[in-house]
Amino acid sequence: MFRIGPLELKSNLFLSPLAGYTNLPFRLVIREIGGVDLCTTDLVNARSLIERNKKALKLIETNEHDRPLAVQLFGSVPEEMRDAAADLERRGIASVDINMGCPVRKVCRVGGGSAMMTEHAKTSALVSGMVNAVKVPVTAKMRLGWDDENITAPDLARALEDAGVAAIFIHGRTREQGFGGTVNLAGIRKVVEAVKHIPIIGNGDVTTPEAAKKMFDDTGCAGVSVGRGAFYNPWIFQQTRHLMATGELLPEPRFEERVRVLCRHLDLMVEVFGEEHGCRMFRKVAPWYSKRFGPVNEFNKKVVGIGSRAEFHDVLERYLRWRQQFCDGDGHLLPRFAPPPMVASFMQDPASARRQSLPVPKGPVEVW
Ligand SMILES: Cc1cc2nc3c(=O)[nH]c(=O)nc-3n(C[C@H](O)[C@H](O)[C@H](O)COP(=O)(O)O)c2cc1C
Repeated sequence: MFRIGPLELKSNLFLSPLAGYTNLPFRLVIREIGGVDLCTTDLVNARSLIERNKKALKLIETNEHDRPLAVQLFGSVPEEMRDAAADLERRGIASVDINMGCPVRKVCRVGGGSAMMTEHAKTSALVSGMVNAVKVPVTAKMRLGWDDENITAPDLARALEDAGVAAIFIHGRTREQGFGGTVNLAGIRKVVEAVKHIPIIGNGDVTTPEAAKKMFDDTGCAGVSVGRGAFYNPWIFQQTRHLMATGELLPEPRFEERVRVLCRHLDLMVEVFGEEHGCRMFRKVAPWYSKRFGPVNEFNKKVVGIGSRAEFHDVLERYLRWRQQFCDGDGHLLPRFAPPPMVASFMQDPASARRQSLPVPKGPVEVW
């Protein structure tokens, strides 16, 4: 059992918000596979929510299988953030998260996102207002600081704990780093050491269960949150739970299972967004699954043009036939065509010429 304030959770693993991706269908896919409990929406503008803006309401769309759910708010006007939190509580949302990490100019210019990390007193006052208005936990998500000269997360975490936040999610990079370089586990550790009681949840570049374990071991964090790694591998939560409980790694999911989940994801996209829009949105989702398929050019070229479920299944069937040439007599991919294993940034040999970096998906937000 894991606690965030009054909220009891069955897992200490979390899905990170990814604007444009962590919608209801993706959360349901992740939950059906298992290993995760609290999932989070994309960031939602507090004012738009209070004004009942249609797009904002679509972002918080949920159903009975999508529990417990956190909604992430951004904004810098204390009254709006307070009222939006109260509105979410009335809607049965389990937890409210505050975005303090977004580096995008549009958000920072008005004092939201990463800019909140530069003004501790103001941010604490805003947080207190929210905490006092609701019974559900209020959490914060931040980076290590603005840049290397301004690693403010430990001090801010302490101030926010005093202001009443129930947990902090910390992406182990600065705003200036964007998504470059390596996630700084020692930096996350400093945040863990700075607070008295609240759980600190580490985040950044976790793409394998071994990487999640290393983040727990090296930082002392109470939980780990996964964003892009869950795209490559929606099984990561289940695999990590198994590794932490038994010390053993589960085998990789079979190709057929990957295809099954891919199809399930599309079905849910169509259910939630309608066939045309759901398929259009799925064009940018399918290539993430296919990164672990082996040779995949044929699939990727065609899937970005799908306009209906039938078209998708047509692309998939053709691809399955084309892929046979890379398989043995039993239909298993020949080892020389298998994709290389994933290795998290903080587990790669710094001297290696073949360092992998985790692609940043295209979306409304290019740098987070
Ligand atoms: C496309 C994209 C959208 C993101 N959207 C959000 C967001 O809405 N709110 C937020 O706090 N972080 C957002 N992030 C940051 C992620 O939550 C996470 O902190 C970051 O990607 C590092 O974790 P990962 O390596 O597991 O993805 C976004 C990241 C990406 C790549």
